[in-house]
Amino acid sequence: MRRCYTVEDMRQWLADNNAYKFGKTKTVGFVPTMGYLHDGHMSLLEQSKQDNDLTVLSIFVNPLQFGPSEDFERYPRDEERDLRLAELCGVDAVFLPSVEVMYPHKPLTTVRVSAIADVLCGASRPGHFDGVATVVSKLLHIVSPDRAYFGMKDAQQVAVLTQMTADLNLDTAIVRCPTLREEDGLALSSRNVYLTPEERDQATVLYASLQTLQQSLKEQRLSVAQAEQLLAASLREAPLAIIEYAEVRTFPRFGQPSPHSCMQDIIQQGTTLLAALAVKFGTTRLIDNMVYAPDRE
Ligand code: PAF
Repeated sequence: MRRCYTVEDMRQWLADNNAYKFGKTKTVGFVPTMGYLHDGHMSLLEQSKQDNDLTVLSIFVNPLQFGPSEDFERYPRDEERDLRLAELCGVDAVFLPSVEVMYPHKPLTTVRVSAIADVLCGASRPGHFDGVATVVSKLLHIVSPDRAYFGMKDAQQVAVLTQMTADLNLDTAIVRCPTLREEDGLALSSRNVYLTPEERDQATVLYASLQTLQQSLKEQRLSVAQAEQLLAASLREAPLAIIEYAEVRTFPRFGQPSPHSCMQDIIQQGTTLLAALAVKFGTTRLIDNMVYAPDRE
């Protein structure tokens, strides 16, 4: 497994492997991460290995996507462990740029996706998706992969990046991969390590409330407003949970459906809906979601 620390190294390795830009003969799958790898990342790498000749992983904790009072400094990092896991998984190359390599000076050019990046996580974390879109666009220009893989736990990120690649004619397909969960339903996230044992116990409430909604939708007609109330009531069963949002939105445009419309009717008419949650336990912010797609059969 090749370790590349600079943009030139990365591109040279791709060129040496007939996997860089025009005339290349090998397909490249790319999994951008901020490291501290867990099984969710591993499943993205496995998918990439199945779909492509070569798989490139990047590990870069991107300062641009953290707000001033967020956890950039304390974000969990363990590069040696990540590299061991990547090697075991059969990754072909890892791109490990420093902040100086990615941002040799404060960029005057940033990428901003409007509308879908301004609601939910975008509203509570101003500038976050600009940071994500900017770094991913830089990474896609450096690696020029055929496919890039992202987990649906960050459904809004997936929507923002899909929109960005379409708007900017980037030649990379954004591949959505399912959320991986602990046995008790908690979505895998590098930030789960911040949770105290008590918070960790109660954090299962996110998935439990999404499941409660899913079950209720099978049993009764629910308006969007009723669904949101159900989610909030279910989250409140965990005394430590501080709800940031519990909303139903259209996917992937993140529009707000009319609160009085029946969820089942909206879905049946062909619109995909997303129930999205952001909940804080102490200083740890967790997100989760469930997609309700129309039955296309
Ligand atoms: O999902 C993440 O880990 C990050 O937002 C990403 C896509 C690697 C960009 O820094």
